[in-house]
Amino acid sequence: MKTMIEPFRIKMVEPIRFTVRSERETLLQTAGLNLFRLRAEDVTIDLLTDSGTGAMSSDAWAALVQGDESYAGAKSWYRFEAAVQKIFGFPHVIPTHQGRAAERLFASLLIRPGMVIPNNTHFDTTRANIEVAGGKAIDLPCPEASDLALEAPFKGDMDVAALELLIANVGAHHIPAILLTITNNSGGGQPVSMANIRAVSKLAHFHGIPLYIDACRFAENAYFIQQREAGYQQMPVAEIVQELFAYADGCLMSAKKDAFANIGGFLCTRDAQLAEEWRRLLILTEGFPTYGGLAGRDLEAIAVGLHEVLDENYLRYRIASTGYVAERLHQLGIPAVRPAGGHAVYIDARRFLPHIQPLQYPGQALAVELYLEAGIRTVEVGTVMFGRDAHTGTEQPAKWDLLRLSMPRRVYTQSHMDYVIEAIALVWQRREQIRGLKIVNQPPYLRHFSAQFEWI
Ligand code: F0G
Repeated sequence: MKTMIEPFRIKMVEPIRFTVRSERETLLQTAGLNLFRLRAEDVTIDLLTDSGTGAMSSDAWAALVQGDESYAGAKSWYRFEAAVQKIFGFPHVIPTHQGRAAERLFASLLIRPGMVIPNNTHFDTTRANIEVAGGKAIDLPCPEASDLALEAPFKGDMDVAALELLIANVGAHHIPAILLTITNNSGGGQPVSMANIRAVSKLAHFHGIPLYIDACRFAENAYFIQQREAGYQQMPVAEIVQELFAYADGCLMSAKKDAFANIGGFLCTRDAQLAEEWRRLLILTEGFPTYGGLAGRDLEAIAVGLHEVLDENYLRYRIASTGYVAERLHQLGIPAVRPAGGHAVYIDARRFLPHIQPLQYPGQALAVELYLEAGIRTVEVGTVMFGRDAHTGTEQPAKWDLLRLSMPRRVYTQSHMDYVIEAIALVWQRREQIRGLKIVNQPPYLRHFSAQFEWI
């Protein structure tokens, strides 16, 4: 059969609300043209994030009921710990309420002011946690990543030569860890190859620097390796995952992505002493080390989700659905990052709206128009998110201005996506009339969550 279907049946539904354009105009004005400030019920299709928005399976819902809510040493904790150890292969597992709590633990123990943390591309909360700890977050994407339209299989790779140069320039003792984000979310959701992970690991360990993987979308990345990298076609995704993490000293994970959970995360390491210190810190803010800010039922759901995400029927459907949207946009001549990412399609807002300067936020302008057109919520990944220096407060264009259409896992069907594609095509037809934006109110960091805008 050539037709690919969603590999699940729908057992429970959640109605979505439709709004009219005049209503959306008022709602947007009240929200200061920032889609994070909208009520979710005023959104028809919500592609703001793939984080915590997935649909759990009947098995995961059944596991919730088994949640052991004991404060210390709950059965749910041991099930969670065993699942994480089995899949990722790290001996020490520290549960957190989400990925950024793991980042905070990581940064507060490892980073002293002036230290440098390289990554293929830091996600915004990772960068912010490093900067708040006084460190410098450096992005070292591979050269192919800078050509958004280039068809290359592993545009999430780190530039190993640039990493070598950085280590030579700042000295290994100023680099407490190297991070590698799989898939590279801020760089277009592109995968990292096994060859690159191996090379980064070799270089890091030659200099005595630990390698930690930001593992949010580890299963999608492993599936891309199976599909695209020579030598992995016959290897099950679960084994690719084992090999991949064997090159690392630990990982940071948001279970809100590739674990289908609505909340949760963890930090893993091979370093027993570091783990002890992290557990002590964990108690201060997150909770006892056998629950780390999560309910026992959350730990159960994550343990189930981590196994389900390795189902290759699921992964095939997942990558095909994102690819479907990207392909249709490509056919319409709409500029988007090529090839399609795993969890999202990224429209190139600078090429979509070439008449809007980066400092007038083309990505945000496009997000606003897509909501006005059809009640679709997306997110800017560009100058609003990355254009402001947290230390100096000065602003410059980010490397790119993208509009991310993130796909919640197992939530929307192909007809929802056809609706999204039609709406984008309508905005494309009237693109020349779209105006840029200015910021009228913003916080000192992570401004994209709460800044308010006006049309220029
Ligand atoms: N690292 C990456 C690569 C991420 O994409 C995220 C979250 C985090 C860390 C932090 O995890 O949200 O559980 O605290 N990304 C979401 C997104 C928010 O929309 O891309 P968290």
